[in-house]
Amino acid sequence: MALGWNVFNLFYKFKVLVLVTLFVMVLWTTFSYLVDTRQEIPKAKSMVEFFRKVTSLEHSQKEEKIESTADVPMVESFQDPCPALSPNLRGASKLSFKPSVTLEEVQKENPQVAKGRYHPVECSALQHVAILIPHRNREKHLLYLLQHLHPFLQRQQLDYGIYVIHQAGNTKFNRAKLLNVGYLEALKEANWDCFIFHDVDLVPENDFNIYMCDTQPKHLVVGRNNTGYRLRYRGYFGGVTALTRDQFSKVNGFSNNYWGWGGEDDDLRIRVEMQKMKVVRPPADVARYTMIFHNRDHGNEENRERMKLLRQVSRTWKTDGLNSCSYKLLSVEHNPLYINITVDFSVQPKVS
Ligand SMILES: *[C@@H]1O[C@H](CO)[C@@H](O)[C@H](O)[C@H]1NC(C)=O
Ligand SMILES: *[C@@H]1O[C@H](CO)[C@@H](O)[C@H](O)[C@H]1NC(C)=O
Repeated sequence: MALGWNVFNLFYKFKVLVLVTLFVMVLWTTFSYLVDTRQEIPKAKSMVEFFRKVTSLEHSQKEEKIESTADVPMVESFQDPCPALSPNLRGASKLSFKPSVTLEEVQKENPQVAKGRYHPVECSALQHVAILIPHRNREKHLLYLLQHLHPFLQRQQLDYGIYVIHQAGNTKFNRAKLLNVGYLEALKEANWDCFIFHDVDLVPENDFNIYMCDTQPKHLVVGRNNTGYRLRYRGYFGGVTALTRDQFSKVNGFSNNYWGWGGEDDDLRIRVEMQKMKVVRPPADVARYTMIFHNRDHGNEENRERMKLLRQVSRTWKTDGLNSCSYKLLSVEHNPLYINITVDFSVQPKVS
């Protein structure tokens, strides 16, 4: 009996010893892991610090460049730059167009927009972007576009302004010349880095389609609902495009000679290619648009001259463009949701 008890006692002691050893081993492993990571943390911290220095250096250089060339400096900000990808993006969304929507409603939905402009308050935007929209007789489409574009651009954390370039008078519509006017007039009031040339009837469906400029001219409309979301044709460069101030001035802007519908976008692509630049596009699943249905407007009939004009681009681009864009400026109105630049192309301005 006593022997049995002793054996049991011994066994019990052995079990306790094993358990204690195991416990100590676990403790030791945990401890040494903690010591290891304590050494890792400063390493990671210094890398983050280094990266921050590099990016903020780039940022301050960019700010300096902007300042040195600015007539009217942009609002200076001492905030951290916004992240490369905004945390507010939502991806694809189903768009709806309510015929009863009013300008006042859209204003209420966008309380942070003033005089057509917005900038994020939480960080300093990576680019200052001017959206240029050529316009005539499309008030309803414009309203739909403004209703979708304002929140879309705010989610992208951009410093932006929306310019509507309105063609008065009865001459044929000239989309390209209106966009040249928009570029020239917008630069008179702010130092925009990037220009988005935007049709009034195209509404972006996915906010990962970022309205910022790239190192190359960017075409943002790969697909739209009326073409089964496929590129209209190889080389298509219409609808919505993004060029930096320098890229656009390098090609002397658009031609001023395309009256009526079609051709001016192909002309711009030829100019871009002649400067050895290459058109880039976002992925097809992101660069999707809804086209609001309409009939061809009166005063915007197909331009039958366009093939002839397109054959001459290499001879004409240097003297036909931003440097020859003359127009009569009728008014510049700062509305809450957009800046309305109204021009008349039917009368030539007095040569100054
Ligand atoms: C594209 O979507 C718009 C808006 O929902 C609609 O009015 C138009 O008819 C659609 N086009 C086609 C071809 O489905
Ligand atoms: C722009 O301003 C002109 C001149 O005041 C006006 O006739 C036109 O309707 C305005 N267009 C828009 C879209 O606000």
